[in-house]
Amino acid sequence: MRVVAVMGSYRKGQTIDTLIDEAIQGVRDADPSAEVEKVILVDRDIRYCTNCMACMKDDPEKPIARCPINDDMQALYPLIRNADAYIFATPVNMGAVTAIMKTFLERICYTLARPGRWPIRGCPEPRVTDRKRLIILVSSGLIPPLLRRLCDDATSLIKTTCKDSLNARLVGDLYAGAVAKRGIDCYAAAARRLGRKLVQ
Ligand SMILES: Cc1cc2nc3c(=O)[nH]c(=O)nc-3n(C[C@H](O)[C@H](O)[C@H](O)COP(=O)(O)O)c2cc1C
Repeated sequence: MRVVAVMGSYRKGQTIDTLIDEAIQGVRDADPSAEVEKVILVDRDIRYCTNCMACMKDDPEKPIARCPINDDMQALYPLIRNADAYIFATPVNMGAVTAIMKTFLERICYTLARPGRWPIRGCPEPRVTDRKRLIILVSSGLIPPLLRRLCDDATSLIKTTCKDSLNARLVGDLYAGAVAKRGIDCYAAAARRLGRKLVQ
């Protein structure tokens, strides 16, 4: 089982970095032979999508569409394409994913998908046919889990992008709410459980 863990926080060693490590440990507990690659987005040179449409116009049968931007995404595309399962993790900033996570999602949107026919012609459909698995971890500074639906657009964006571009099905998610007050220790066991569930 090949797992890619995408860490979308700006801070290392803090909430999301800690929780993603817990989930990775859960993966290793459940499947010691799993190959896990952790991608720390802030360490990579990931430029903005320019809407050049080269990916959308490329051969729909290719496993990865051409992207003319010569940055670290070129190495990440095959890594992501060939994974069996994903962990996506991001703080909730202004109700949504971090800017670096959004930049990353925009870059995989049509390189790993092709223009499909449903629900509207041109919407992304995955280039891969094998079904992948996904867990999502998000954290919010202020908003407790009870009020999550008021402020968490991050989870739905990641879930939809992973379904449409990676053929990945959500098997579980964690909302670590109000971490400024509650801290992160209370969410660690849930993150580890999710990691186990991802590969079981
Ligand atoms: C620009 C910015 C916007 C934020 N917006 C929200 C928000 O809308 N709701 C919230 O509960 N916390 C918000 N936060 C707090 C972060 O969610 C919190 O610091 C983060 O989950 C901690 O993750 P980290 O330790 O991995 O950085 C925001 C933080 C920043 C820097």
